[in-house]
Amino acid sequence: MVFERKDLLGTRDLSAIEIRSLLESAESFKEIAERPLKKVPALRGKTVVNLFFEPSTRTRTSFEIAAKRLSADAVNMSASTSSLVKGESLLDTVDNIQAMAPDILVVRHRFVGAAHMIAERVGARVVNAGDGANEHPTQALLDLVTMSEHKRVGPGLTVAIIGDIAHSRVARSNIWALTTLGVTVRICAPPTMLPRELDKIPGLIVCERPEEALDGVDVVMMLRIQLERQDRLLFPSIRDYARVFGLNRQRLDLAAEDAIVMHPGPMNRGVEITSEVADGSRAVILNQVSNGVALRMAVLFLLGGQGHE
Ligand code: CP
Repeated sequence: MVFERKDLLGTRDLSAIEIRSLLESAESFKEIAERPLKKVPALRGKTVVNLFFEPSTRTRTSFEIAAKRLSADAVNMSASTSSLVKGESLLDTVDNIQAMAPDILVVRHRFVGAAHMIAERVGARVVNAGDGANEHPTQALLDLVTMSEHKRVGPGLTVAIIGDIAHSRVARSNIWALTTLGVTVRICAPPTMLPRELDKIPGLIVCERPEEALDGVDVVMMLRIQLERQDRLLFPSIRDYARVFGLNRQRLDLAAEDAIVMHPGPMNRGVEITSEVADGSRAVILNQVSNGVALRMAVLFLLGGQGHE
């Protein structure tokens, strides 16, 4: 395995070899979910603390399950029930958690760079579970695990990412990881939700209309509109957005016959995706969630176990 970093903070600076190592390791952890006793002793005696300063269903739960399946002690701290509400600063909070000698901190925070700042401050290894609109590396990696179950992920594959690209850390982490592996990525959003800085990435194509992005594509990834990160409405109405950018059966027919449909969740049914498509035979949305546990086991194992004794 080639993964020698202290922390996993993003996919932007990962090499293709590092990404493939993480995916390979995730593959080896998948079968543990099929066992009657879903536990291996790989991280016995290690402590994983989930520090979530933003809401989460999938990421926090799957990190906790992943840690427990590796026999680590998993502790969850949520901002709303912590002493942050009494005015304690983020850095004081982190210093106090570090004083309890955790081995791995899994951090989600609304500020870009929060996980990086914490990683520089603490001796524990840090996994970025989402920093503002910047990166969500484990989501992109679990998306790659899921794509690999259906497609060869490399040159020749085309992935369309449609939705609120500007505010999406999932889009950014996927764009960096996919283009590093030589995959062609088409992005599509209303102009108000398209970040300018992505234009110049080799292998990235910006499409104005979803019909253009979907044409013959192998993988369709739909994104939620992140109203919580917008200070003003970036399109006339939800109904207009759904009509122009939403994925329905007719639009999906433009993609390759064997195209798969992905969504990182949480979904807003009837906005970016219809229920017919989200629950249809080409959707792999719940497979993404299942693969999230195996991928996060791989990340915790590579950071906290193998090679770091
Ligand atoms: N995909 C994702 O990050 O979901 P949660 O916000 O529920 O963790």
